[in-house]
Amino acid sequence: MHFFQKFIDRHTLGVFFLLVAGMARADNTPPAAIDAGLVQSTRSIAGDLLGQLGQKLKAAMSTDGPVAAVSVCKESAPAIARQLSITNDAKVTRIGTRVRNQNMGVPNAWQKEALTQFEVRLSQGEKAPDIEYWQVADNGHGKSELRYAKAITVQPQCLSCHGAAQDIAAPLADKLRIEYPDDQATGYSVGQLRGAVVVTRPLP
Ligand code: HEC
Repeated sequence: MHFFQKFIDRHTLGVFFLLVAGMARADNTPPAAIDAGLVQSTRSIAGDLLGQLGQKLKAAMSTDGPVAAVSVCKESAPAIARQLSITNDAKVTRIGTRVRNQNMGVPNAWQKEALTQFEVRLSQGEKAPDIEYWQVADNGHGKSELRYAKAITVQPQCLSCHGAAQDIAAPLADKLRIEYPDDQATGYSVGQLRGAVVVTRPLP
């Protein structure tokens, strides 16, 4: 299957009421029309997850330290994602370029494509907050869905838990090893692509 993906400049969004998602199947299925408002609201769901999680993480790191903050990532991240999923009739998750939680963070095929493309765009100098991807595709049951991903890059405050393995202090390293025996999500440096927030929504 070949999809044409269209990336939109967020600043031009308000100008259009309707955008053609630009996605056509190789079998000439007509491109799906998609309301720009829906893309905008999907973008805000992703932003909400990052915002809420960032706040919680920051608070936990400063009051309780990184060992305790692991539970924010382990429990609050999926809880916030679940809540946003229910409220918005969407599926909200986080994925990683290299993954810590092998049950939740592993990208599927289209998400891998998005990550690969994000790496290229980052290396071409595009600013991380502007990097997003979306497409309209069949959900596997004959209905359309909107698939949206927003790049997550590594900030200095991520390094205590995602930086070089040898720099992670002993109690934290032990905790991570126990909770995530297959952890791949260390060895990152600031500015690198860490993963994406993914929002999938059924379309009418
Ligand atoms: C206190 C330690 C800690 C800090 C600080 C931290 N993380 Fe994580 N991160 C984790 C843990 C633990 C998980 C696994 C969560 C789970 O079980 O779903 C995780 C998972 C993730 C995932 C989901 C994919 C995966 O690998 O499972 C992403 C994306 C992510 N972190 C990005 C970041 C970013 C970006 C920052 C900085 C803004 C950050 N993290 C800071 C501990 C941390």
